[in-house]
Amino acid sequence: MEPSPIIAPSILAADFARLADEVRAIEGAADWVHVDVMDNHFVPNLTIGLPVVQSLRKATSLPFDVHLMITDPERWAPGYAEAGAYNVTFHAEATDDPVALAKTLRAAGAKAGLAIDRDTSVDAYLDLLPHVDTLLIMTIKAGFGGQKFLPETLDKVRAVRRRIDADGLEVRLEVDGGIAADTIEQAAEAGADAFVAGTAVYGAQDPAEAIRKLRELVGGAG
Ligand code: DX5
Ligand code: ZN
Repeated sequence: MEPSPIIAPSILAADFARLADEVRAIEGAADWVHVDVMDNHFVPNLTIGLPVVQSLRKATSLPFDVHLMITDPERWAPGYAEAGAYNVTFHAEATDDPVALAKTLRAAGAKAGLAIDRDTSVDAYLDLLPHVDTLLIMTIKAGFGGQKFLPETLDKVRAVRRRIDADGLEVRLEVDGGIAADTIEQAAEAGADAFVAGTAVYGAQDPAEAIRKLRELVGGAG
């Protein structure tokens, strides 16, 4: 049986002054909460870090899907696992030894995720799939919410899906960037089974309803 699709709203598009309320507003509708950590170095934008994640962890029972857009993930990523993140994703472009970091994260009790930015080919990483739990393909250039979905990135999704299925791997294939009602179906058809959505969820009048609509489009029971 195929695993049901995951909908992971990104709090990057939420009201940062009311984060606990914003996360509670999607409980019961979302599968994971996507937390975008940016260091103004790996990407030209700065968001939140470990203290916020530690505090927010106490405010909800939803699993945290932490997306680290930072340099030196070896130094920082384990702290997010220790803070109770369900999945910790670091960028392929930010590390020389993704397999070692994935091992460290798993040993710290989290799932390990590898992210591939817009301009990075996935080919060199296909052989590493058995070492990770999630593979995130950026469908925009990492750094900012509210950007336009780039359909050409779906070739990478297709390549990863082929390898996951051919080798019978248990890896979630996640897409992030510009995912909304008019783009989520093409991403699902390309083989994604976890969907990050910031603006499409928190820009909506009713975030929980927006999640239900996205889920319907990808055939999830919810
Ligand atoms: C951007 C982040 C995304 C962002 C997506 O670098 O990784 O998670 O929140 O936002 P939307 O859904 O608005 O494109
Ligand atoms: Zn993200």
